[in-house]
Amino acid sequence: MEYKSRIQVKKPLYRAEGFLWHPSLKDNPMQISKDTVGLHTVYRLRDETLDEVIGEAVVSELEAELRLHGIFVKPEHRGRGHAKSLMKSVLSLGEAKPITLCTGLGNIAFFKQFGFEVTEIGETLVHMQKTL
Ligand SMILES: CC(C)(COP(=O)(O)OP(=O)(O)OC[C@H]1O[C@@H](n2cnc3c(N)ncnc32)[C@H](O)[C@@H]1OP(=O)(O)O)[C@@H](O)C(=O)NCCC(=O)NCCS
Repeated sequence: MEYKSRIQVKKPLYRAEGFLWHPSLKDNPMQISKDTVGLHTVYRLRDETLDEVIGEAVVSELEAELRLHGIFVKPEHRGRGHAKSLMKSVLSLGEAKPITLCTGLGNIAFFKQFGFEVTEIGETLVHMQKTL
């Protein structure tokens, strides 16, 4: 539990040299970087102690919306709040536009906690949106 609270990225996030940074991260081994890859913005969560990228989120900006293509945390690092940290960075991008995504039915509850609502549901996939 103590480990989890140390690594959570808290607002406000300051943009500096490609990193989203906050004073509370000074001695924090977890760093989130933001890179542009083609039309995509990729957030990578890196554990500096392990020297390893342990998760990432991929977003692209369309005219009327932000599209979250995926968020992933390596299996051995799950359940420690890392996806939540990545989602905070993604959500800070979405303050001006709605965010949409398409995912498996099993992830509905995960995204609902961040304010996403179901807009369309199929047999295996669901479309969700977070409005302003
Ligand atoms: C979904 C995924 C990103 C979660 O990563 P994680 O680092 O384990 O998530 P966190 O520890 O940050 O969890 C944050 C919260 O979400 C909850 N949560 C995690 N996965 C969940 C799921 N599949 N459904 C519902 N809630 C979930 C956690 O219990 C936690 O809740 P809490 O804050 O109340 O304790 C990870 O399991 C993963 O990479 N899965 C494979 C890829 C995937 O399906 N991505 C999502 C669609 S693109």
